[in-house]
Amino acid sequence: MSETLTPDVLEHLKTLLAARPEPVRLTVGYLKGGTGKSTTAVLLAMALARYSDEKVLLVDADGVNATSFEWSELAADDWPSNINVVYWPSINLAKRVRESGHTGHIIIDTGPSDAGVLRQALAVTDYFVTPVAATPAEAARVRPTLEAAAEVGVTRDIDLSILFTRTKPGTLSLRASREALEGLELNVLPTDVPFVLLYSQAYGTMPDDLGVYPQVLTEIIEGSDA
Ligand SMILES: Nc1ncnc2c1ncn2[C@@H]1O[C@H](COP(=O)(O)OP(=O)(O)OP(=O)(O)O)[C@@H](O)[C@H]1O
Ligand SMILES: [Mg+2]
Repeated sequence: MSETLTPDVLEHLKTLLAARPEPVRLTVGYLKGGTGKSTTAVLLAMALARYSDEKVLLVDADGVNATSFEWSELAADDWPSNINVVYWPSINLAKRVRESGHTGHIIIDTGPSDAGVLRQALAVTDYFVTPVAATPAEAARVRPTLEAAAEVGVTRDIDLSILFTRTKPGTLSLRASREALEGLELNVLPTDVPFVLLYSQAYGTMPDDLGVYPQVLTEIIEGSDA
């Protein structure tokens, strides 16, 4: 199995996951379309399934697209047996998750337009990852997503990480976007996900190479433990 990341990085993630007393419960969300939410949700779920011994519940909560759910159906027998995928795009999402009896990791993929479902997802997860594009307009567009998080944040600690996706590495636009979001005191992950075929071609498959996503997962969970 060949991975973009080196064996020691992957070994470090394994050690981190094994040492955690709690499973990873994470929402992927951004109230805007096509930024890489579903790709991020599925590849993070696959990283958890590959580098930890716990089972993963992947919840597709997008009432319009069902991308994660369809990805798992297309992958058929190649889909990892330790990732259980459900399609729960409903406003009762939090209740369904709580009543599922699932005790392992949880990843929730939310859609681009339903703030209600996003709030439900945040109510039952500890981490919130927001995949955004590295364009100048983006800093202005994160506000509705942050407001949804702030509403839930009143009753619950939410660990928000911004993830730049579909990037062109080394560009001025990436540097400027990073500075703009860091200027809003947001936690921007050091690693970003470049725009390459590896990620778009992963759709409907179980790729050998999860790209930078195991490193992204490491940064998400290390960020809050540090
Ligand atoms: N890093 C990447 N490099 C290249 N293509 C990517 C990358 N990440 C995602 N894509 C592609 O971009 C498109 C949108 O990605 P994805 O479906 O993950 O976004 P989304 O935010 O879930 O969209 P929606 O808002 O419709 O749910 C897809 O065709 C996907 O394969
Ligand atoms: Mg999606």
